[in-house]
Amino acid sequence: MSKILYERQQVYLSSLRNPPDSLLKEMEEFALEKKIPILDWNSAEFLEELILIHRPKRVLEIGTAIAYSSIRIARHLRKKAVLDTIEKSKNNITLATEFIKRAKLSPSIKILEGDALEIMPVLGKKYDLIFLDADKQDYEKLFYYSLMLLKKHGILFVDNLLWHGYPAARSVPASFSKSTKIIREFNKLFTNQTSLKTTILPIGDGIGLGVKV
Ligand SMILES: C[S@@+](CC[C@H](N)C(=O)[O-])C[C@H]1O[C@@H](n2cnc3c(N)ncnc32)[C@H](O)[C@@H]1O
Repeated sequence: MSKILYERQQVYLSSLRNPPDSLLKEMEEFALEKKIPILDWNSAEFLEELILIHRPKRVLEIGTAIAYSSIRIARHLRKKAVLDTIEKSKNNITLATEFIKRAKLSPSIKILEGDALEIMPVLGKKYDLIFLDADKQDYEKLFYYSLMLLKKHGILFVDNLLWHGYPAARSVPASFSKSTKIIREFNKLFTNQTSLKTTILPIGDGIGLGVKV
């Protein structure tokens, strides 16, 4: 349940959702049960729409988890377009590989195994769209690497910028105080880049949308 919108709005929007296919439904239930964070369904739909509008040839995702968002992205790419997705957890790589195989998307999704902090600086080619969805303490460095790897007019899509509502809250539970401070600092950095036209949208857990100018 979103902590960004009022509950009645969230319930209303959810009531309008077209049911996901059986694979996505299974993945959403699996992620919920195993407490693996994945993109909110409405953020995923927004991302799919951006893919359809922007028609990227090369997409980079930072944080694959079980490949829920990877599959949703890849299903909307044009033929010959590629999705590179970086993941450091061996367990998640195994799960993601299996789900990608079941989605019959193995040819268009390439998992780059390892820490994005080490992989991104050595990636040779630039991307049309980058989706940043990794550990929050890595966001600042990964953001700068993303800027380097993003083509002009490319889109940067960042999840969790309203972080359960806490960056805007007066009091924050102790267990979230460090991560909330990180997100508050990141949001200032994100919205003050001269090379990016940015906005933070109250979709899902808060989506940062940046276009490289
Ligand atoms: C929020 S989940 C990604 C969810 C996925 N994008 C989705 O919506 O289906 C974050 C994932 O990023 C991985 N991760 C976090 N920091 C990372 C890093 N520095 N390099 C590579 N993977 C990272 C975690 O292991 C985790 O699987």
